[in-house]
Amino acid sequence: MIDIHCHILHGVDDGAKDMEESVAMARIAYEDGIRDIIVTPHFNDTFLVEADLMLRKSEELQRELDRQGIAIRMHPGNEVRFEGNALFTDYKRSGKFAYLGSPAKYLLFEQRWTFYNDETPEFIERLLHDGVTPIIAHPERHFFFRDTPELLLELIELGAWTQVSADSLVGNFGPEAAQFGQWLCETGRASTLATDSHNVNRKPNLRAGHDLFVQYAGAEALEELEARTKLIIQS
Ligand SMILES: [Fe+2]
Repeated sequence: MIDIHCHILHGVDDGAKDMEESVAMARIAYEDGIRDIIVTPHFNDTFLVEADLMLRKSEELQRELDRQGIAIRMHPGNEVRFEGNALFTDYKRSGKFAYLGSPAKYLLFEQRWTFYNDETPEFIERLLHDGVTPIIAHPERHFFFRDTPELLLELIELGAWTQVSADSLVGNFGPEAAQFGQWLCETGRASTLATDSHNVNRKPNLRAGHDLFVQYAGAEALEELEARTKLIIQS
């Protein structure tokens, strides 16, 4: 399995605090059946992990995993929060954040927690116009998407993908996130699944997410989801 959203890099954000924890998370991920991880440190007002630091840390961790014989391949990425329009445009232009995989084809795009930015559709359109598919990070965890699903449906209609978190489906973010996540799976609106794991407690658990997805959407839909996810690391 491929995890496209994971805060496994050591000491850069609120994810793994040191190399030891990164390796422990990688072991859990391997046991879970994960073989590829896109590292997605935060790129937001609180943790602005720029692409060059992400790459350096990712290479460091890869070397350690290779040394310890943990057969997981790391891929570059960021979880980019849409903090503000001008800011986003500036960072995009100067290449400060990383796309998923490496070429500018997929972007893990997160909303703020407190309110929905009305200019999101416009930015989604711009990204798509540039050949980038935005992947909306864990929409089921945002109250405004749950309260007004039309906001999310509009983005999907435009061509955005979604990333539903395994932890939401298993109920770790409460019943509302679980229900909305289930609805996204059932209605064919969960483009990808990921762990968004941060440490050995909030750990990689993609298998549990895949199992629930099969219950909600069927085995064939899971095959499609896995094929779609593969495109991201093959881009
Ligand atoms: Fe995240």
